[in-house]
Amino acid sequence: MRSIITSFLLPLFAVAGKVPYENYILAPASRNLIPTSVYQVNGSVENTDSSGKATFNGASSFTLDFGKNVAGLVSLDVDSVSSPSAFLGVTFTESMLWISSEYSDATGNSGYDSVLWFNIGNGAGIYTPENKFQRGAFRYLTVVSNTSATINLNSVRVNFTAAPVQSLRDYTGWFHSDDDLINRIWYAGAYTNQLATIEPTAGDAITSQAQGITLPETNAWYNNYTITKGNSTITDGAKRDRLVWPGDMAISLESIAVSTGDLYSIRMGLESLLALQKADGQLPYAGVPFNGTTSYTYHMHNLIGVSFLYRFSGDTAWLLSYWDQYVRGVEWALEAVDDSGLANVTWSADWLRYGMGGHNIEANGILHFVLQDAQNLARDVNQTSRISHWASVAAGIKTAANELLWDPEAGLYRDNETTTLHPQDGNTWAIKSGLTSSNQSTIISKALQARWGKYGAPAPEAGATISPFIGGFELQAHYIAGQPNLALDLLRLQWGYMLLDSKMTQSTFIEGYSTDGSIHYAPYTDDARISHAHGWSTGPTYALTAYAAGIQLTGPGGSSWKITPQPGNLTTVDAGLSTSRGVFSVQYTKSPSGRGYSHFSFSAPASTKGRVRLPGVSGTLASKTGQKVKLVNGVAAVPGGDWELQTGIQQ
Ligand SMILES: *[C@@H]1O[C@H](CO)[C@@H](O)[C@H](O)[C@H]1NC(C)=O
Ligand SMILES: *[C@@H]1O[C@H](CO)[C@@H](O)[C@H](O)[C@H]1NC(C)=O
Ligand SMILES: *[C@@H]1O[C@H](CO)[C@@H](O)[C@H](O)[C@H]1NC(C)=O
Ligand SMILES: *[C@@H]1O[C@H](CO)[C@@H](O)[C@H](O)[C@H]1NC(C)=O
Ligand SMILES: *[C@@H]1O[C@H](CO)[C@@H](O)[C@H](O)[C@H]1NC(C)=O
Ligand SMILES: *[C@@H]1O[C@H](CO)[C@@H](O)[C@H](O)[C@H]1NC(C)=O
Ligand SMILES: *[C@@H]1O[C@H](CO)[C@@H](O)[C@H](O)[C@H]1NC(C)=O
Ligand SMILES: *[C@@H]1O[C@H](CO)[C@@H](O)[C@H](O)[C@H]1NC(C)=O
Ligand SMILES: *[C@@H]1O[C@H](CO)[C@@H](O)[C@H](O)[C@H]1NC(C)=O
Ligand SMILES: *[C@@H]1O[C@H](CO)[C@@H](O)[C@H](O)[C@H]1NC(C)=O
Ligand SMILES: *[C@@H]1O[C@H](CO)[C@@H](O)[C@H](O)[C@H]1NC(C)=O
Repeated sequence: MRSIITSFLLPLFAVAGKVPYENYILAPASRNLIPTSVYQVNGSVENTDSSGKATFNGASSFTLDFGKNVAGLVSLDVDSVSSPSAFLGVTFTESMLWISSEYSDATGNSGYDSVLWFNIGNGAGIYTPENKFQRGAFRYLTVVSNTSATINLNSVRVNFTAAPVQSLRDYTGWFHSDDDLINRIWYAGAYTNQLATIEPTAGDAITSQAQGITLPETNAWYNNYTITKGNSTITDGAKRDRLVWPGDMAISLESIAVSTGDLYSIRMGLESLLALQKADGQLPYAGVPFNGTTSYTYHMHNLIGVSFLYRFSGDTAWLLSYWDQYVRGVEWALEAVDDSGLANVTWSADWLRYGMGGHNIEANGILHFVLQDAQNLARDVNQTSRISHWASVAAGIKTAANELLWDPEAGLYRDNETTTLHPQDGNTWAIKSGLTSSNQSTIISKALQARWGKYGAPAPEAGATISPFIGGFELQAHYIAGQPNLALDLLRLQWGYMLLDSKMTQSTFIEGYSTDGSIHYAPYTDDARISHAHGWSTGPTYALTAYAAGIQLTGPGGSSWKITPQPGNLTTVDAGLSTSRGVFSVQYTKSPSGRGYSHFSFSAPASTKGRVRLPGVSGTLASKTGQKVKLVNGVAAVPGGDWELQTGIQQ
């Protein structure tokens, strides 16, 4: 048995000042990106190498691979040109499916994006386009010559523009287990959110098309629309929409908080939404310029964003400055609750699922979740007058949802009273928000698992679709239902496919795809439009930290916390996250018998307190400073510090 003293001397951080497992981080060490290989040559291009060097002898092209999805502004270093009428163009694509010398993949609603042309007739020099031609995400870059000129190209560089205020590899959280695929998924989620974090002046102007602005040319694209204040903001996706969407934040926000810890970019995005609140309390479906639509569910996601940011930042002054707005938002949502006890939704806009309306289970699950949050936040700011009202409406939703929408034969909730469709979103939100009893959660978890196909968990409410957004809530639902192996199996099946399939970028997570595994997302007619780096698909990053490692902040900034690991069939886990109060971490190795732990230790900042829950485990928690607390029925309440489980006799 290993002595406590020895293990306390083990370095928490592999490198001083940096979190361990840095080798899994996909973010580049330098913002000056160099391609990793030549993917293909088309025509009479010679002398190519992976720096972008090439000789063009007439019309031809070659394609560079950056080895992973990247973002930024391209520069061509031209050595010599034989003709003043010479041009070079570049095209971009995230998926190899759209590699072409004639177009880029798509940011608009139909057709492909046009080639970005450089007039290089003046000869040698470095050619860099205006900042608005930074490309939000691409793995493959094709350089094309369209004239008979001989052109010597020295190199192709990309100035990495994503996550503009981050030191790209200085994560504040980490995750490691004995399952390499699971680890890679955690880090790909973190990197996906880095790509979707952008300069606020570089929002996608194509969306302004929908606002009646005529584009200068067909299939033009440029990123010069200002979407928030400040120097950096989170968005939905790196290539598009490059807009702030509150629904996407219900996943991305927590995954960012436990990995890069970039709360600034979250706050800029969220404040841009709160600034759009209407006089009646309604919050927007999306940030500018896409703020014209009413969505009941996305309205509530704005409120969830406020509570999530507050939980990680612990910034009570910030919460107080938005408290009146928050309350008006909750009250607006409550106006939809009718005599049945449920909200009757009369706005169809949601995450592009079909059939949002009536006494919808997803909407009511989210409302139930918001009402729990609202009670907790009200207690924190000592504004308690509405708590009993919110609690009673929440209780009414729970009763009515189970009376009107529970289908015992299917072991799932129906979408509303008049359908036999059992949605993924509503059933996962029912568990997440506590509409279910514990054995109901288990029944739903198993019924959802029974529907999985070869490529993941279906979302029948959105056609033949696999939604990595709703799948993120399904991961949480399996953990909450006490089914960690189902969560891990779904991670390996669905996010494993997204990470490893050759049509994907093998580094970032796609927005949505088909149940047959193809790169087709039912709500879109144009497959080239699908975003391959979408923050809403990064649910595993938070789920693994919060449930596999079991680190959950319950009070603002982690003033209080729970440590409730669910290893499933993982054998070792080492994970951590940071807030302004300090570092929270868990390390464990399960005992060879599979029951209990041969090693279990955790740390939390001294200014905090929390509860540890290790079902079936007995023993004593010993702190570095000599405190000892016995586990009673596997549970103990302890102050922050560095703790280890002693003796660990299994029951
Ligand atoms: C190769 O070049 C030809 C004509 O030059 C073009 O039609 C074709 O699309 C190119 N293929 C790729 C994959 O770029
Ligand atoms: C090459 O492309 C540029 C930019 O679109 C265009 O102005 C030029 O006419 C093209 N040259 C040829 C020979 O097609
Ligand atoms: C990248 O772009 C930024 C912002 O325009 C600029 O400050 C920086 O010098 C550029 N870096 C390189 C390597 O070109
Ligand atoms: C963005 O670029 C387009 C195309 O060049 C231009 O018409 C528009 O005025 C620019 N918008 C801003 C805000 O600079
Ligand atoms: C942007 O960043 C700079 C440098 O960190 C800082 O001085 C400035 O205040 C920031 N601007 C805003 C609007 O946050
Ligand atoms: C979106 O918000 C902007 C800024 O408040 C406002 O000017 C605009 O009218 C809004 N658009 C719609 C369609 O509501
Ligand atoms: C009830 O759910 C079904 C399936 O999602 C949907 O087709 C229908 O439109 C919904 N009813 C209302 C009133 O929205
Ligand atoms: C929801 O409200 C609409 C509009 O008032 C009404 O037509 C519909 O019948 C209501 N649905 C339910 C399930 O009560
Ligand atoms: C709420 O009340 C408690 C107890 O009086 C106090 O410690 C705390 O600072 C108050 N919080 C706020 C935000 O006013
Ligand atoms: C679920 O719990 C209820 C109430 O305790 C019980 O009646 C029912 O048999 C349980 N169902 C299952 C499948 O365990
Ligand atoms: C965990 O289960 C998966 C399948 O569900 C299996 O592939 C994997 O090898 C298992 N890992 C361990 C350590 O048992």
